[in-house]
Amino acid sequence: MNKVISPIHSQKLPTPKKHWLWKHMKDFAPSPIEFIMKNISELGDTFEAEIPTRKFVMTCDADLIKYVLQGNHRNYRKTKAYDEMQLLLGNGLVTSRGDFWRKQRRLAQPAFSKKNLANLFQSMGKVVEDFIEELNNKRGQEVDIAHEMMAITAKIAIKSLFSADLEGDLLKVYKSMTDIQRYMILRIHKPIFKPFFHFNGRHSRYQRSFEVMNNIIQKLIKERKESGETKDDLLQMLMDARYQDTGEKMEYEQLRDELLTMFSAGHETSANAMAWTWYLLVQHPEIVAKLKEEAQRVLDGRLATFEELKQLTYTRQVLEEGMRLYPPAWIVGREAIEADEFEGLTIEKDQNIQCCIYALHRSSKYYPNPDAFDPERFTAANVKARPSHHYMPFGAGPRFCIGTHFAMMEMQLILAAMVQSFDFELVEGQHIVMEPLITLRPKYGIRLKVK
Ligand code: HEM
Repeated sequence: MNKVISPIHSQKLPTPKKHWLWKHMKDFAPSPIEFIMKNISELGDTFEAEIPTRKFVMTCDADLIKYVLQGNHRNYRKTKAYDEMQLLLGNGLVTSRGDFWRKQRRLAQPAFSKKNLANLFQSMGKVVEDFIEELNNKRGQEVDIAHEMMAITAKIAIKSLFSADLEGDLLKVYKSMTDIQRYMILRIHKPIFKPFFHFNGRHSRYQRSFEVMNNIIQKLIKERKESGETKDDLLQMLMDARYQDTGEKMEYEQLRDELLTMFSAGHETSANAMAWTWYLLVQHPEIVAKLKEEAQRVLDGRLATFEELKQLTYTRQVLEEGMRLYPPAWIVGREAIEADEFEGLTIEKDQNIQCCIYALHRSSKYYPNPDAFDPERFTAANVKARPSHHYMPFGAGPRFCIGTHFAMMEMQLILAAMVQSFDFELVEGQHIVMEPLITLRPKYGIRLKVK
């Protein structure tokens, strides 16, 4: 049995043994999830860790996470790590803070209303149809499902945001996004090396990758402005939205940041959720059979309509369970604005608190047999019986994911279409490894045989 200290009632948090100079960096940076899970099992749900220049509290305690993200959210701002994310996302919704964020959220929220989602759903169908056709041509071959999912969610995001196609730019987007994320994580995990990245070429490489993304988004905004056309997409909604107080529109730079944010936050996350779900599914043919039965009964070979999504309950359960085991946003960080206290735990001013959603979802305190893939955990009755803050793939509190319903409808649509057309088999002998960047990715992909 692991020794579990309840840190919530102790003033001094446990901490793993550390190196005098590197502190925990050498264990944490190369494999953060292993580091976190090991220490949670040895020290308890909340412990303190340190890398040069930064100390943080790591927790998977559901009550503490809820308190930080929701209960007393006014005292907790996004951490400095989000400043690193500005390298890609500028001052968009994910990274902005305070009153400015509130103003932007109010402006963007209506774009995700049920009526607008139903409109956006129309355009998703065509992308999914094309995807199924392309995959059909790969029958008998091996595909990297992580790559396939990234491609389809990127296409859906571009369609929903800009009513455009990515055409030849898809691979460029994929490479640039990976490169930028790896750079951001390097800066977050090894902050003392930041100055060197300007000399060893790493920063210039990031700049080139950013330019690729920036140019694609800029071109799409420019084309819309010049064409004078009006379309049913997120770009149009954000271009037309007016601030409540001034009645003014969003400045161009801000519009670009919001679109880059929605594109990035809106496709990688869903892609990873789908890829990991497939990884779980190929190991559970009995669950695939139930998925097929539901899709056959509700859809009979067709794509789902917006109204039919409600009936695809098992499909939703499978996706929810997939995101429990592999939450795409695997960690969420906050910093205390003022000193605080939570159930005997003293929180200092500026204390960095890392809410590890991955560890929360894998905690045996909240889930019996936590590592097992079991979509029954998400039946209506089971969800009702469990406190809602034991499951947080989309975060919690006012900074809860704005794209939750968008993501769920997109993933249900794709998964139901795929199970109706294909069977997949895991290619033997590959090394499936988690890469916890900003999102939780399969590091070397997941190769499946299409049948
Ligand atoms: C499976 C898919 C998704 C997952 C797991 C996910 C997860 C999350 C999480 C955990 C947060 C909160 C981060 C924090 O509190 O620090 C967040 C925020 C956000 N997400 Fe998502 N997301 C997904 C899909 C999407 C989609 C499809 C969009 C847009 C179309 C989107 C746009 C955003 C934005 C703009 C924010 C910032 C919201 C704010 O702070 O006001 N996400 N997401």
